[in-house]
Amino acid sequence: MDVFEAIETRQSIRKFKSDDVSDKTILQFLDMARKAPSAENSQPWEFIIIRDSEIRNRIIETLETAVKDETLKKFVTEFLAPMVSKAVGFQVPAEALIKGAGYYPLHNAPVLIAVCMKDPRPVIKSFGEEYDKYKDLTFIWFVLSIGAAIENILLSAVSKGLATCWTSSAMFAEEKVKKILEIPEDVRLLSIIALGYPNRIPSKISKKPLKEIVYLDNYLKVHPSFLR
Ligand SMILES: Cc1cc2nc3c(=O)[nH]c(=O)nc-3n(C[C@H](O)[C@H](O)[C@H](O)COP(=O)(O)O)c2cc1C
Repeated sequence: MDVFEAIETRQSIRKFKSDDVSDKTILQFLDMARKAPSAENSQPWEFIIIRDSEIRNRIIETLETAVKDETLKKFVTEFLAPMVSKAVGFQVPAEALIKGAGYYPLHNAPVLIAVCMKDPRPVIKSFGEEYDKYKDLTFIWFVLSIGAAIENILLSAVSKGLATCWTSSAMFAEEKVKKILEIPEDVRLLSIIALGYPNRIPSKISKKPLKEIVYLDNYLKVHPSFLR
């Protein structure tokens, strides 16, 4: 499978078979992750392979409690649900998003991979206030780098017939989940990837066409390929 086919085939899968995935295979994917580009070659990523069902259950229970938060409900109802509905072209009820859609993939995947990032901001802060303006910039660079590493995992997995779902709902209770995983204070937990063999493959979700997202030379100029 070449990279184009892997990109075309990949989709978020939320139901997995119980078949195990070997450590050798997982490490192969993580080996691809560490080869991703990163800002200043910072390689800010670290990974925790989660196989222990008790740890998994504690994470899920923590998230179940976290989504009961009233502010979160308001945020999902007023911001996330309308945004998701617009992107997919049909009405997605806020309750569906709140009721576990976010962490649902974590339930049945045989393997979870927690993706951690060393937060650069405390170190920058220690250099003094004059560098303060670079704090957010560096943070964004690091997060972008993490995204590249995660995509390498997803594409490697699909090329080997495995399925994934990239989730970041653990961030709703990041501190609590970090405690479960013994992640130190200066390390962020940005995502948990659900990994396994696909059980149910849903129809592909729609994506915006190129003509809606590509401009030429400036943001106001439609690319001539899309002028009719
Ligand atoms: C940063 C990020 C966070 C995501 N968090 C979740 C999540 O918490 N739960 C979930 O089920 N899917 C999550 N997804 C998957 C998206 O919902 C999915 O990628 C999107 O709907 C497009 O579908 P596709 O992956 O099948 O193309 C996340 C994806 C990204 C990139």
